[in-house]
Amino acid sequence: MGDMSNIRNIVILTGAGVSAESGIDTFRSAGGLWENHRVEDVATPEAFARDPNLVLRFYDARREAIQTKAPNPAHDALARLDAGWNGNLLLVTQNVDDLHERAESRRLLHMHGEHLNAWCSFCDTRHRWRAPLLDRPPCPACGSRALRPDIVWFGEMPYRMDEIYAALREVDLFVSIGTSGAVYPSAGFAQTARELGARTLELNLEPSQGSRMFHECRHGPASEVVPAWAEEMLAG
Ligand code: OAD
Ligand code: ZN
Repeated sequence: MGDMSNIRNIVILTGAGVSAESGIDTFRSAGGLWENHRVEDVATPEAFARDPNLVLRFYDARREAIQTKAPNPAHDALARLDAGWNGNLLLVTQNVDDLHERAESRRLLHMHGEHLNAWCSFCDTRHRWRAPLLDRPPCPACGSRALRPDIVWFGEMPYRMDEIYAALREVDLFVSIGTSGAVYPSAGFAQTARELGARTLELNLEPSQGSRMFHECRHGPASEVVPAWAEEMLAG
């Protein structure tokens, strides 16, 4: 992808495609989560107010499922790049699974929340959580039965946007991996990075909605294209 010698600061955005080969459903593909569930029924604050049991059951099932999955070569390659890259690197994931952590990525930020957290809407604390929430367990901090999934629902503000935009202001190379580019604000990061002078690269199974925004696109399964790219970066 041209001259890499002036690349020091990297921002990587990952989406569901990175975890697809670990056996975790994506959202928008055929057979994806949003084909079998209406977003408005399970992934909005209104849905939770209207039918909390339906929403809690949906996320309990997802939380249970991810605990049976394992990182794939794409997660591993991103962790190797993180460990070996001397410049700044920030991995911004839209994924709510913990596969980047389990692969041991360190410079990682979950902008859409985490399945393995419960958030108390009464005392505003977060707790590492592996069990179901449907039976309304008490909050470990305050005892109230007001725990909800720590997931950013449609209509809610993604987490840590200040840190993300601060990293984008310094970025030399922005890489989008396994995301359809259908959801904002993350879908706008490539354009922002590009306007600020960064090179932009898309790694995805197929061209995404935003492919035109990238200087370069490489298409193929994440387990192949991500390790190949990461090794290239580490080789300098
Ligand atoms: P999508 O399901 O919208 O897109 C997944 C992308 O991954 C698609 O572009 C696929 O082509 C690609 N893909 C599938 N398998 C792949 C593979 N093996 N290797 C590489 N790419 C592959 O998922 P996201 O873009 O992550 O938000 O969705 C963004 C957000 O919308 C999610 O974080 C979620 C959802 O609603 C919340 O739940 C808050
Ligand atoms: Zn509490």
